[in-house]
Amino acid sequence: MIPQSFIDELRQSSDIAEIIGGYVQLKRSGRLLKGLCPFHSEKTPSFTVFPQNGSFYCFGCQTGGSVITFIEKAEQLDFVEAVKWLANRAGIEVPDDGSSDGIGLLRRRIKEANREAARFFYRQLYTTAGAEALAYLHGRGLTDKTIAHFGLGWSPDGWDKLSKHLISLGFRADELEAANLSFSNRSGAPTDRFRNRVMFPIIDLQGSVIAFGGRTMEKEHQGRKYLNTSDTPVYKKTNNLYGLNWAKATCSQSVVVTEGFMDVIAMWQAGITNVVASQGTAFTAEQARLLSKYTSTVILSQDGDEAGQNAIRRSIPVLRATGLDIRVLQIPDNMDPDEYIKAHSAESMRSLINGSVSDTEFLIAGIISHHDIDSYDGRVRCLREICELLGKMNPLEQEVWAGRIAEQLSVDKSAIMSQLGIISRKQRRNESREELKAMAQEITGGGTRSNPERQQHLRAAKAEESLIAAITLSPTLAAGLEQRLPPESFVTSMNRRLYAAVLEQIKNGNEPSLMMLEQQLTPDETSAAARILNSEPAVLATAGDIEQYIAIINEERARPTADDLSGMTDADLASYMQALSKRKK
Ligand code: CTP
Ligand code: MN
Repeated sequence: MIPQSFIDELRQSSDIAEIIGGYVQLKRSGRLLKGLCPFHSEKTPSFTVFPQNGSFYCFGCQTGGSVITFIEKAEQLDFVEAVKWLANRAGIEVPDDGSSDGIGLLRRRIKEANREAARFFYRQLYTTAGAEALAYLHGRGLTDKTIAHFGLGWSPDGWDKLSKHLISLGFRADELEAANLSFSNRSGAPTDRFRNRVMFPIIDLQGSVIAFGGRTMEKEHQGRKYLNTSDTPVYKKTNNLYGLNWAKATCSQSVVVTEGFMDVIAMWQAGITNVVASQGTAFTAEQARLLSKYTSTVILSQDGDEAGQNAIRRSIPVLRATGLDIRVLQIPDNMDPDEYIKAHSAESMRSLINGSVSDTEFLIAGIISHHDIDSYDGRVRCLREICELLGKMNPLEQEVWAGRIAEQLSVDKSAIMSQLGIISRKQRRNESREELKAMAQEITGGGTRSNPERQQHLRAAKAEESLIAAITLSPTLAAGLEQRLPPESFVTSMNRRLYAAVLEQIKNGNEPSLMMLEQQLTPDETSAAARILNSEPAVLATAGDIEQYIAIINEERARPTADDLSGMTDADLASYMQALSKRKK
């Protein structure tokens, strides 16, 4: 545990608005700041920062917490790492190495084991036994300099060469298993996971080796061409982009997304360094968000086959949602970048990149190629599909593309524009309906994700939440409260835990801020706490209010069953209706 006094110091030196402002464009609205949520995709801002109590909450995806929570999520760190990140930013020293226990320690050990494994694999290349692997890499055109730059290696044949080596360095078998470097065989002995493969270390943005890909050297391979580290406490394949650690220095303008390890490496050797690989998985929102921190334009280069084209089509909306510009790089003859550079030259690869087309152009060309535009019917269907696509674009794009399409398919531009008008209106209507639904959901059942009992005990839950919010804002109101209303009297267990934690803080003489509570809460509980602490009206509660909350909680607890409808008081209904009508204006 990190000492509370330190967390408190960190709180005072970390301006939440400034820090989150580095990730999200925030607009002031009264005492709050609003922006588009970085944790889910949305068009209208429901992500809110509350500077006065140092918290944030997204009304759309119900994620919330303190500045520590935010950094955990935004930088993909655990609690202790996020605390260190913030301390480092504020220039203050972390007292005790909090990572010396539990999951933090295991993560560190996994990274250390991986680093040693990478060193071991690299050394093997230059042994007699590794000659074949080295020849394989040279045969694929890689120089020794390139091999060293990417830390490539060879996992020796045999069963336990790496495991034995790592154990001799002091690693335990369970640590190697957690790293997915070993598994235990039937007699319980640690066995190497990677054997006789060319090894590609996967390195995170801090420079730690977090995983490996291993390629077979057989031409006609029976088993899997690539074997990868499964997800471990330090690695999640779908969140990662191979090569971003090297590319980040040169990709601020644009980054080329390829499919494979060899593409990144061959491009680098050809002098093209702003390249990463998605490693053959569908592009995830997580990866898009990661990229959007380092670049403004993503150039997608996927294999030319049908699967590759579909992958591009699926990736486009994911990337668009983060505000990235997207271009598509088409390589002729179904080649991947590695093959193309070898067949042609670095220079022609460069001109292909320069000739990449915008995502809209790519999608429209795809639609046109799927229709017989020489027939009337085909042309109408084709135009309708294109209009559906353009309907999602901004007016400028619509204007430009309508002109081009009109020319290409010899129709009147004004006809396309008026069809676009109809579609845009329809899409807007659907959107506002969705928003209204989300809003109603938030008011009636908000917070159900973290507190499933809330729906069934709405009246009690609301009183509990108001009580928690009130004593957090004015701790003096908590005097004598623990005796009168011990945590056990709470109806919903999530609020009970939160209430107990707040009382504990007050008893210890701390200001019960979210950051102080966070160490004792799960991520979902932290989100719920952020919602609760910010749901109070601006006016401070009085002792009279507290009495009322206590009465409601006691009353509700005594109730045999409370189904949703009877749990909703007239006042609840009224405020619900009022919120809905405000929304419509
Ligand atoms: N991949 C994988 N597991 C497999 C096959 C592929 O993880 N069984 C990932 C690897 O990261 C690989 C990428 O998907 O680099 C692209 O796969 P593919 O196009 O088949 O391989 P290449 O990168 O072209 O590999 P090579 O040039 O070595 O044949
Ligand atoms: Mn290839």
